[in-house]
Amino acid sequence: NDFQYIRINIEEQIAVIELNRPHVLNALNRNMVMELVQAMEMHDRDDDVRVIVLTGRGRAFAAGADIDEMASDDSITLELLNQFADWDRLALIKKPTIAAVHGFALGGGFELALCCDLLFASETAEFAFPEVNIGVMPGAGGTQRLTKLIGKTKALEWLWTGERMSAKEAYELGIVNRVVAPELLLEETMRFARKLAKQPPLSVRFIKEAVHKAVDYSIYEGMQFERKNFYLLFSSEDQKEGMRAFIEKRKPHFQGR
Ligand code: HXC
Repeated sequence: NDFQYIRINIEEQIAVIELNRPHVLNALNRNMVMELVQAMEMHDRDDDVRVIVLTGRGRAFAAGADIDEMASDDSITLELLNQFADWDRLALIKKPTIAAVHGFALGGGFELALCCDLLFASETAEFAFPEVNIGVMPGAGGTQRLTKLIGKTKALEWLWTGERMSAKEAYELGIVNRVVAPELLLEETMRFARKLAKQPPLSVRFIKEAVHKAVDYSIYEGMQFERKNFYLLFSSEDQKEGMRAFIEKRKPHFQGR
């Protein structure tokens, strides 16, 4: 657990990962993203963790990729560095991930929040893709994920202007699940995470997988995929326990097997 740029706290089967470069508003340097991926994959395989929460230390979630680090890069260096392979791995995490966002979530910080399954925002949260203002554009999924979420017309407006979106606007656009008072952000996120941690983990896992397919697949292919996952759950002990508990009129006890 020797991480330089993140901190981790595990309680009640919830791993809380905190971005930890507050002096630069958690600007995402490449090593921080590497650590984040390592930590997420580690918790993804850990039976004692059921939900992963991602948050930022200090006054921001993350103000984007580290501009100092990339300012003098050239295209070929970037191609050979292949840093986005790490971001691709974030999208493969199987357990539920929740971003708890306060303050700025800009550029890569916004992309990181959009990589998570759910997004809880403080009233103080501000989202934007300001890349255009420094002569670039999003590189870690921003143009794709934002467009899938809010549609082409609105996505272009935000991506072209780089303007800041309030938590309320993000909520109205369907980007954010909940907007809460700043002092309650972590509490509310943890309350939801605890609820999620009590759901049968295999159902939660296969639902996530199927919902993600809905974004890429046609409805027909997506439904074939859903069906297989539905069948698969009938090999689990939790399916037997869940249905038996219903019939016996008692509370089920789920074990994730
Ligand atoms: C490096 C950053 C940074 C960043 C802030 N800092 N954002 N350093 N990269 N992205 C540093 C500042 O330089 C400063 O360091 C310290 O954090 C505090 O920031 P201030 O600017 O003093 O704070 P404030 O006046 O409140 O302004 C906050 C801000 C501004 C509006 C967020 O910092 C800002 O515009 N940051 C850049 C946002 C941005 O363009 N993000 C997109 C990056 S491109 P010092 O040492 O001066 O105290 C991107 C591409 C993604 O994300 C590609 C995929 C990974």
